[in-house]
Amino acid sequence: MILVTGGAGFIGANFVIDWLAATGEPVVNLDKLTYAGNLETLACLDGDARHLFVRGDIGDAALVDRLLAEHRPRAVLNFAAESHVDRSIHGPSDFIQTNVLGTFNLLESVRGHWARLPDAERAAFRFLHVSTDEVYGSLAPGDPAFTETHRYEPNSPYSASKAASDHLVRAWHHTYGLPVLTTNCSNNYGPFHFPEKLIPLMIVNALAGKPLPVYGDGMQVRDWLYVKDHCSAIRRVLEAGRLGETYNVGGWNEKPNIEIVRTVCALLDELRPRADGASYAQQVTYVKDRPGHDRRYAIDARKLERELGWTPAETFDTGIRKTVQWYLDNPGWIERVQSGAYRDWVNRQYGAA
Ligand code: NAD
Ligand code: TYD
Repeated sequence: MILVTGGAGFIGANFVIDWLAATGEPVVNLDKLTYAGNLETLACLDGDARHLFVRGDIGDAALVDRLLAEHRPRAVLNFAAESHVDRSIHGPSDFIQTNVLGTFNLLESVRGHWARLPDAERAAFRFLHVSTDEVYGSLAPGDPAFTETHRYEPNSPYSASKAASDHLVRAWHHTYGLPVLTTNCSNNYGPFHFPEKLIPLMIVNALAGKPLPVYGDGMQVRDWLYVKDHCSAIRRVLEAGRLGETYNVGGWNEKPNIEIVRTVCALLDELRPRADGASYAQQVTYVKDRPGHDRRYAIDARKLERELGWTPAETFDTGIRKTVQWYLDNPGWIERVQSGAYRDWVNRQYGAA
């Protein structure tokens, strides 16, 4: 079996669902259930004996040690993180706590577990760290896309905390021989994305008749990958990645934010037209820019393609259509995430975090 951390978040939950469908191998899922964690996303696994959910913190050494000793996973995949750049600007402390200290704690527990394994299990063991392209900083127009050897130049508290965690993972390999793999992926989108990130926020606000807030001039460029393609890349790296290596994950889909917003509006115009017949694009409102806003990210994913034969299954056009359709089909999920009813339930069920 494998241990996944952060498996109730956007990417982690998509990963767990896809992993069980693709491999059937059991998963222990350790997640703190912060505002971003949502057990309802995992409802399709209710009663599935292959999925064991544990509410807890990657920074809780006693808990992590116990889970490792009890379940003896053959791999640990670390998705757990504070992940929203805007939140990191308003309150960086949780980002240092989870992304830096939490990852440090997890590495130490995993190192102890790995060192105690019998030879064959120790040789097969893997620690896979899920990271971001934001550690490389911002590109100028026309610069080549980020390769794995690009200098680390993080600019936000979020990206700095992820960069720190990547460095810890690297050092634990170099110093202790821990068998690690790191993936640095571009912006994900798809089902179960928390509606404070760009694409789900635009869909939800458009349908509610609210303004669509575009930061600055809307010409910041992000490189978008459908979440299920990120999940297949992680499965492939876990299976065949070279120890100690990092792999950039992306789908060659660079787009300015305003184009993303206009695409979402056009799809909604087609699939759920406004009652007055006007376009949702009328709701676009330019607002004050994010402080320190990175201008452009772009991922060069050729190493992953060349060495491990991975390519994404979705184009941006197919992925964004599926995503908009998913939000139209799942109003209950959105409503409960937004209303706080879900949080109340979690706190009743598990006690306040
Ligand atoms: P998310 O915020 O949706 O989910 C994070 C999950 O981690 C939540 O379920 C949360 O409850 C859990 N968590 C937070 N702190 C924890 C702790 N101390 N202990 C245990 N669980 C904790 O984030 P996401 O978008 O799913 O991102 C997952 C990972 O992928 C992160 O490491 C992020 O840096 C990375 N990543 C994200 C993107 C993206 O576009 N979203 C792109 C590249 C890399
Ligand atoms: P976000 O989804 O927060 O991801 P990240 O900052 O990690 O790339 O934002 C994606 C882009 O969209 C980013 O350039 C900021 C911009 N943005 C807006 O213009 N308006 C918004 O309301 C949000 C949330 C983001």
